[in-house]
Parts: sequence; C-alpha cells; structure tokens
Amino acid sequence: MFKISLFILLIGVMMTSCDKGGLPEPVQVGDVIQPEELALLKELYSEDFLIGVSLNSNFTQNEIEDKSLGLIKSQFNSVVAGNTMKPVNIQRTEGDFYFDEADHFMSIGEMYDMKIIGHTLVWHNQVPDWMFEDEHGNEVSREVLLQRMETHINTLVGRYKGRIHGWDVVNEAINGGAYRDTRWYSIIGENYLDSAFTYAHRADPDAELYYNDFGMQNENKRLAVVNMVKRLQAAGVPIHGIGMQAHYTLNVDVNEVEKSIIAFSELGVNVMITELDISVLPSPPASDIGVKEIGNDPAYDAQYNPYPDALPEEIETQQATKYRDLFNVFLMHREQISRVTFWGLNDLESWKNNHPIKGRTDYPLLFDRDNNPKKAFYELVSQKN
Ligand code: GLA
Repeated sequence: MFKISLFILLIGVMMTSCDKGGLPEPVQVGDVIQPEELALLKELYSEDFLIGVSLNSNFTQNEIEDKSLGLIKSQFNSVVAGNTMKPVNIQRTEGDFYFDEADHFMSIGEMYDMKIIGHTLVWHNQVPDWMFEDEHGNEVSREVLLQRMETHINTLVGRYKGRIHGWDVVNEAINGGAYRDTRWYSIIGENYLDSAFTYAHRADPDAELYYNDFGMQNENKRLAVVNMVKRLQAAGVPIHGIGMQAHYTLNVDVNEVEKSIIAFSELGVNVMITELDISVLPSPPASDIGVKEIGNDPAYDAQYNPYPDALPEEIETQQATKYRDLFNVFLMHREQISRVTFWGLNDLESWKNNHPIKGRTDYPLLFDRDNNPKKAFYELVSQKN
C-alpha cells in the first residue's frame, strides 16, 4: 500500500515538473523569481550572438548582491564595465594609474567565463582635463596629446592583453553628420582616430577594436560613420567592428535601425548593439532640461515623470513589443551582429533614471527593481521558442 502511494506521488511530481517545461507565467507584483527558475537568454541566443550586460561601479567595487549575481552569470555571456575603465577612473592624474576596480571587474568576467569588453579608450566625456592641458592650464600640442594618448592606451590595453575580447577604442566622434568638435579633434585633427586604433592594436594585436556611438539609426550619423570607417579602412587602420549604443525610446524606428545595421555590415566589419535600453519616459526638449527638479512642481512631474510608483501594464507591453521588434531585426542580421549588450541589469540601477532629467523613475531594462523579469524578458524568451 505504502509502495503504491509512493509510486503515485512520484508520478505526480514528474508530471508537475514536465508541466514546467513551457514558458513561465509573467510575474505578478510581489512575486519573487529566482534566477534558476528562468529560461537563459545566453543559451537561447547562443547560435545568434553574445548577450552582454554592463556592470556599474557598485558591482565592480563591492560584493554583488546574490540575486543580481545569479542573473549576471546565468543570463549573460559578455560583460562590459559601465565606468570603471574610463580615463577619469583609470588615470585621474598624469601617470597615476588606478587599476583596483578594473582588476576586480576583470575577475568577475573571468570567473564566469564571459567575453570581456573594454570601454572606452578615447572619448570627450569622462576624461580628465589634464589630458589636454599643461601645468599652467594651456592647451598642449598635438605631439604631447598623441604621446599621452599612446601612454594611456598602451598601459591600459597592455595590462589586460589577451584577456579582453574587444575594446571600444573611440566613442562618439561624430555629431550629426560631421566630426564632433572635441579636444581630441581640435588638437590632433581627424586622424586622432587612426592613432587611437593603431596604438590599441599594437598593445594587444588579438583584441577586436570598435568604433562606438549613439543615435546610429539616424541617417546623417549613419552616412558620416560609413564615410569615416571607409576612410580608416583605406588608410589601413585596424578597425573590426561598429557599436550601435542603442539608447532607445518607445518611438525608435526599427526600420532605421535596420538600415544602419545593413550599411555598417556592408563595410565588412562586425556590428554590435552595445548599450541597449528602451526608456519609457517622455523625452524633454532641451529647454525643459535642468530647469526644474523632480518633486518640486506637480505639473512638471506629471509631464516628465508619469510613472513614479509603477510601470502601467499597457506601457510595459508596448516596451516588450519594441524589444521584440528590435530582436526580430537583430535575428534577421545575426550573421553580421556579434553581440547585443544591455546597458545595466535592472531598472533600479539604470542611468536613465537620471538622464536627461535627474530623479525620474524609468523602466528601460529587462529586469525590474527587484530583479524580477519583465514582459520584455519573456518576449525575448518566447521569440526563441
Ligand atoms: C554613453 C557611454 C557610456 C555611458 C552612457 C551613459 O553611451 O558610451 O559609457 O556613459 O553614455 O550611461
């Protein structure tokens, strides 16, 4: 009798676990989902492209909270540091290199066998002023700046030689349809890019080297980047990929994104989606940025911070649909796309809560503030089922 009941119980347990083979139910408010209960994006997309995530400084400085770590190691097979490897953190003053945080970041990526991306060597933001100035605050010469660039790149790329899969060598050199007027550009000239890529290649000949920029779906930028990369290729500069940052809103035109993927892949380089997030908040005109703080004016808040407590289901669905449409395009061009990286793990840590207006509540990523998967996550899972 006992044996028969045990047998029935076992059959019951087996049937219940078979039932779990399908898609999990979307989570409800207050549910706690453990990473091990989820389908794995990195496995679902393993034949298509890498699935990456950026780690913020909190992650790279401190112990990672268990659930975040569970998601990072189970869902993603590529990792990039959000800020840790930028010049302002690596070389705050000339010759004073600081690698503790970057070493820690590398150890996380290596522990979980992820493809590690270095970000970023030459950019007009998050680079200390000393790079461009002498001890009196006067602008340095072209030769001095090239020397400083070379030292920075040699030291940083050289330190992690053989351990970094690819570097974002130059970030955001194009503004609209022309070269952005940065100090790199004004002091060195447009071939500051040639030098940056050449130094990076010398420091680690096996690392892939990328140009990375935002708004790449816009026609002006698309054409300017194509021309710039053609020029670099004609000059024999080692460039292996183009990163489309992909900081999108619900209005992004997926057809324009696709046109850029096609135009860039026609150059014979890999295309990567490098900083993907989809903001659900209204984009303010420049005249409304920085004029008021969130929390002081109910009308301003209602206009620009409409979901301070929770993301309405209908908006979450719109976002999931946009993620689905984008991934449809990425999958169609999977031969050319080598990686899709999300800019952050969850909505709580996203930079979009503070950009372009500080103190808003945005919901741009696949995991919510409790690290629970959102509709967008399930949409990307179901696309591969
Ligand atoms: C750009 C940079 C990133 C990061 C984001 C904002 O896209 O490439 O490093 O600073 O802005 O978080």
